[in-house]
Amino acid sequence: MRRRKSILIGNWKMNPVTVAEAKRIFSGIKRVAAGAKRVSVIVCPSDIHLYPIALLAAKGKVALGVQDVFWEDRGFFTGQVSPAQAFDAGARFAIVGHSERRRLGDTNEQVAQKLASVVRDGMTAVLCVGELDRDRDGSYLSFLKDEITRSLSRVTAPVIGRSVLLAYEPVWEIGRRDLQAMKPQDIHETSIFLKKVLHDAYGAEVAQSVPVLYGGSVSPANAGTIVRDGGVDGLLVGRESLDPKDFGLIIKKLDGR
Ligand code: PGA
Repeated sequence: MRRRKSILIGNWKMNPVTVAEAKRIFSGIKRVAAGAKRVSVIVCPSDIHLYPIALLAAKGKVALGVQDVFWEDRGFFTGQVSPAQAFDAGARFAIVGHSERRRLGDTNEQVAQKLASVVRDGMTAVLCVGELDRDRDGSYLSFLKDEITRSLSRVTAPVIGRSVLLAYEPVWEIGRRDLQAMKPQDIHETSIFLKKVLHDAYGAEVAQSVPVLYGGSVSPANAGTIVRDGGVDGLLVGRESLDPKDFGLIIKKLDGR
């Protein structure tokens, strides 16, 4: 059977400041991604940069996503962006439940609402889950299970199988210089656990079709090992996705170049 493509998502967060800089970073990424055969590259700029970047992305191989959405399609919701608006501006993916959003107050129920509206509007949802820290007695496992099943409570199993990617991002590993404590073996064990949660809750087909990504301090130095030994289908990268040279190296690693 042909191995499915790896998935690489860059989450730019609230960076960079100017459209010009966003375009410069994106052009560098687009150039490297043009030669990629075994990796699908997705970039999630800030909402304000989405449309100008979408114009640059046309005819290229890099797909676009947003970092968050609201759950209504239109209406009197000051400051919110809807999945329908994001789709129209060029996004085909939407991250929901990122830990930085959860820290600002997003609950599992709100994440579930967001996720349901993302898939209803024809986009793929990138559901982020991750424990705040690891305890010895393993209660982080039930925390993860809870986050997954509650966040997916408003969609059916076939929809999950078609339109959801699961990104495991241990909160304690996000934004460091390099992987600190998390070994590829730990990532592997956790990804098996996440697949089991999907299997038990939604069946074998969903467990097989939902890609599981890892995120948290991914760099060119550890990307290859994480994908090879961590048993994941791809990576969600924050800081290093703002450097076209480093992100380009990660693309090449996943592409087997
Ligand atoms: P990082 O962020 O790669 O900078 O650790 C990952 C994320 O928050 O998605």
